[in-house]
Amino acid sequence: MARSRPPPSWARTPPRSTVPTPWRGGPCLPRPTGPRPTSPTACRRFVWTRRWPSGPSLSLSRNPCGRRSRRRPPAPVCPRRCRICRCPPTCPTCKGWRVTDRAPLNPTLAATFPPPVMEARRWLAGATFPPDRPLINVSQAAPVDPPPMALRQVMADAALHRPESHLYGPVLGNPDLRAAVAATFSRRYGGAVGPHQVAITQGCNQAFCAAITTLAGAGDQVILPTPWYFNHKMWLDMQGIDAVPLPCGDDLLPDPERAAALIAPRCRAIVLVTPNNPSGAEYPAELVGRFFDLAQAHGLALILDETYRDFDSRDGPPHDLPTRPDWDRTVIQLYSFSKAYRLTGHRVGALIASDARMAQVEKFLDTVAISTSQLGQIAALWGLGNLGDWLAGERQAILLRRDAAVAALSGLPGWQVKSAGAYFAWVRHPFAASSADLARRMVAEIGVLALPGTMFVPQDDPVGPAHLRIAFANIDAMRIAELAGRLRGLQV
Ligand SMILES: Cc1ncc(COP(=O)(O)O)c(C=O)c1O
Repeated sequence: MARSRPPPSWARTPPRSTVPTPWRGGPCLPRPTGPRPTSPTACRRFVWTRRWPSGPSLSLSRNPCGRRSRRRPPAPVCPRRCRICRCPPTCPTCKGWRVTDRAPLNPTLAATFPPPVMEARRWLAGATFPPDRPLINVSQAAPVDPPPMALRQVMADAALHRPESHLYGPVLGNPDLRAAVAATFSRRYGGAVGPHQVAITQGCNQAFCAAITTLAGAGDQVILPTPWYFNHKMWLDMQGIDAVPLPCGDDLLPDPERAAALIAPRCRAIVLVTPNNPSGAEYPAELVGRFFDLAQAHGLALILDETYRDFDSRDGPPHDLPTRPDWDRTVIQLYSFSKAYRLTGHRVGALIASDARMAQVEKFLDTVAISTSQLGQIAALWGLGNLGDWLAGERQAILLRRDAAVAALSGLPGWQVKSAGAYFAWVRHPFAASSADLARRMVAEIGVLALPGTMFVPQDDPVGPAHLRIAFANIDAMRIAELAGRLRGLQV
């Protein structure tokens, strides 16, 4: 059948109305087979037969800003220099919008960075470590050992004998666990937290996502002290929310006055992580109180991520916010069972907020998870009731490791431990090289995997290249000493 030659792919504009499939309504050729073309324009047949996605932003020739590209887009450049290039053209006006030759891509998702821990793991690919000098992995803030045997037994029994442990549960969490979390928080902070103010989430990360989703939307702002916890920044990016960096001082504490100066009309929340990831800093109660006053005065939410609460070196409540009048109009507290009972894989966390906000949280949780894993909730409940002493022992062990890490790392010439606590030490290295390069070289040269400071700050922040995060919680005192020995031998 005679067919007129289609215009080049980069010059086509699909009709605005509905999905034109196939292009211009003509009969389409069979779907292309064989190797994928090296670019959308390299294979006319591929371009001719593929399905155009709907919407004005999704064609090769029209970008979301409405800009129409009549000129040939620049040839895609593949950073990996592989034969099959998957890098589509990017619209310079829309920035993150990438027009793929397959399907649309959410620009706010595309704009955020890849998961840092996964990226660091990729540095290990191809590296070998002799048995007498194994890798020292101080990159991840997660327990590596399984939960205590008694807890595993409880979970196994539940899996075998409690049919409901395999089913959906209430969206906001099991009532018994919500009540236990409320009682624990009330005891710990000396305030009154009710079960209706607690939601059980699939980990603290999800609690953060839920909290933010109830507070802010695209174009709003949220203040994050830097160095920040990268997943917080990533979620804000994905939502199109502007993360406003609040640089901490040399003591790694955020300053409420500096924060006040950053509050703009579309600011919705301030996020504090204490004890902090990545710095380990434990925020004094008085400082947390000042942030509460600031947030309350401006009608903002104060999100407190207390994932590492159980490893705080201070005895007694780390702050008094739940004792303050109307605290729940301002405060959203987040907690994780991942670290406390080594339940990382079972994904259990908690969000504590006002009754009114719970109705919104419920919408979010129902949509993304329906309910948190029953086995995880059963384990968390049992842990709250039975693992108090065990957890106190864990805390002591981690505090000893912190002391050992501070002593060992401070003794290194030119190195400076800026802050340490929870699972982490935030250290300044003595080299001119950026921590981004240094961290990679450390894998190859001294068999140490740590995350560079660049993963915790905005791209242009000079603090990042000068620092590393050392997550010491998983290595004992002997390995901490060995870590220091290897860092001492690092030649850059
Ligand atoms: C500050 C902070 N919040 C949340 C999380 C994630 O916790 P979860 O495993 O409960 O999602 C982490 C884990 O590294 C963290 O460091």
